[in-house]
Amino acid sequence: LNNGLALTPQMGWNSWNFFACNINETLIRETADALVSTGLAELGYNYVNIDDCWSNMKRDVKGQLQPDSKNFPSGIKALADYVHKKGLYLGIYSDAGVFTCQVRPGSLYHESDDAKLFASWGVDYLKYDNCFNLGIKPIERYPPMRDALNATGRKIFYSLCEWGEDDPALWAGNVGNSWRTTDDITDTWESMTTIADLNDKWASYAGPGGWNDPDMLEVGNGGMTYAEYRSHFSIWALMKAPLLIGCDVRNMTSQTFEILSNKEVIAVNQDPLGVQGRKIYAEGTKNCSQVWAGPLSGKQVAVVLWNRCSDVVNISADLGLLGLDKTAQHSVRDLWSHTTLSENVVGSLTAQVQVHDCKMYTLTPTSSVYTS
Ligand code: GLA
Ligand code: GLA
Repeated sequence: LNNGLALTPQMGWNSWNFFACNINETLIRETADALVSTGLAELGYNYVNIDDCWSNMKRDVKGQLQPDSKNFPSGIKALADYVHKKGLYLGIYSDAGVFTCQVRPGSLYHESDDAKLFASWGVDYLKYDNCFNLGIKPIERYPPMRDALNATGRKIFYSLCEWGEDDPALWAGNVGNSWRTTDDITDTWESMTTIADLNDKWASYAGPGGWNDPDMLEVGNGGMTYAEYRSHFSIWALMKAPLLIGCDVRNMTSQTFEILSNKEVIAVNQDPLGVQGRKIYAEGTKNCSQVWAGPLSGKQVAVVLWNRCSDVVNISADLGLLGLDKTAQHSVRDLWSHTTLSENVVGSLTAQVQVHDCKMYTLTPTSSVYTS
């Protein structure tokens, strides 16, 4: 969507994956505080997004949405002011149906009123869900909110949460700044890998202004191993997915923080070229050895060697398949060990990869080999 936003994928935090409906204004303020004090805000995580359950069960007498009076007694404007003072943005949630998924009032047929209300509160981001949609197609239900947000004159990031219904990559480029490509993620290896493969299919439709959204990060929520979370984060970064943290950032382990704060991996995600990396190659009976890659600005290429199975494997990436000159030397930067390999590579890059783990590199051409 050409509204000046999402030139690179959005980064921030969202309440749903860890807290579900157990949210309140103190949590939102403490999360904003933690994003700043940990340094995550400075690394780019600047949206603080409230998901479902922030609103009362009913609209008020004037027909307006109202925050849950028990958990958000100071109101959303006060929260937006608080978050803005910290240099962050506030996101909110509604639904392109008659109720949200947790059965709060939805915004279908209230688009103009609700967009105006969000703008008057100083909201910077809307996640717009798909429950209780009366069977009406998303392509009819999502544009009215785009137009309503646009009419407010406030810059509001528009995140479509239509769960991949009706192949949004084909129609959402002019509707939203990102669109979900799949059902909800869960905190398991099975869910994460399935979603990565489904999202990959739509790679060619992503770019500055509009991104495929394979759903929010589960890093730090406890259901996957360190290696699996590292793979999750690496592949999401490479796929130019939104990097929306889904754990409790007030209580992260050092391993969780190490993953989420990896500057070099974040730089791949936020690279200005904005081309979604994709699965280039898969080998073995169960496609255990996978090479995912994508171009970056400055003639660099980002590569993930991903072990999808339960044995240690050696994975090789053919530089020709990555779109590089096979005869040229390339320097190799390891984005997890934060070292540049002592030897340049020519032709291919090979590494041993642990179970469900990955290696992530950027390759930079250093010279050409002249044969005549
Ligand atoms: C749907 C969305 C989730 C979350 C919940 C909230 O399932 O896909 O991301 O917003 O609703 O109820
Ligand atoms: C179902 C659920 C929603 C959401 C979607 C995601 O419809 O009711 O909350 O999780 O699946 O596909």
